[in-house]
Amino acid sequence: MKISIFGAGRVGTSVAFSILHKAVADEIVIVDINLEKAEGEALDLYHGTPFFKRCDVKAGTSRDIKNSDIVIITAGAAQKPGETRLDLTVRNAKIMKDIASQIKEYAPDSLIINITNPVDVLTYLLWKETGFESGRVIGTGTILDTARFRSLVARNCDVSPTSVHAYIIGEHGDSEFVVWSNAMIGGVQLSKFCSFCEKESCTSLEILFEETKNAAYKIIQKKGATNYAIGAVTSTLVESIVKDEKRVWTPSVLIDDIYIGYPAVIGRDGVKRIVKIDLDEEEQGLFERSKNIVREFVSKII
Ligand code: 2OP
Repeated sequence: MKISIFGAGRVGTSVAFSILHKAVADEIVIVDINLEKAEGEALDLYHGTPFFKRCDVKAGTSRDIKNSDIVIITAGAAQKPGETRLDLTVRNAKIMKDIASQIKEYAPDSLIINITNPVDVLTYLLWKETGFESGRVIGTGTILDTARFRSLVARNCDVSPTSVHAYIIGEHGDSEFVVWSNAMIGGVQLSKFCSFCEKESCTSLEILFEETKNAAYKIIQKKGATNYAIGAVTSTLVESIVKDEKRVWTPSVLIDDIYIGYPAVIGRDGVKRIVKIDLDEEEQGLFERSKNIVREFVSKII
């Protein structure tokens, strides 16, 4: 299993470190315009491999992604405090076009996972530019947002995050939303769970969603970037692919002519199928609005 990662920044290296912990790769190649930095990061990561499954970690150029099974993209400008993900569209589109042509040339049989923001807009661009089958080009979508929400609800309601079944779908950005109509804790509707919970004080679920939506802004304000949780998201997605787990995540996938965060079954070939989620009328309206925002930004770069 050869995995190549474009970008040796905080996200790229956190993804690599997390993949090592999952013990799912035999070889990791890190590509960056700053080769020196990629070499330093690769060496540092490689020195940790006696503690995981044997894995070769190297720095390289685009040519070295040859025969990759999975190519992960983290390269590009990151949000600065006060910027939205969509503000990065034009800057990062140029980088994506270049990376797409390199993947086409050197790793035409690979599966692509894009993380670079705005993830939905750029994953669509990567799909168009590579001409790969849509199931083989996915973005991390709202998997991170879903994880953030589940972890906040878990702490608030004093249950394990694995028992919180709630999805955030739509744009990985300000127009995302919770599918409240299907949100549950252990089979009980989230809205009903509160009625028999004995906690004396807690935060409202709406506020937890606002905290989820604004989490990246808050973290970027405090430490300049987000990297650990997205590393965990990506390595878990890679694990689902490598082990053909068929787990349902909310990656950015092709649906209604656009890439957007939506439930999908993920296995060895990428997207096995889309899971049609039942949205109520209000949620359907929010989904259409979110799709239109992604469409609008795609039209700026296509
Ligand atoms: C995040 O949500 C910035 O998209 C990145 O952490």
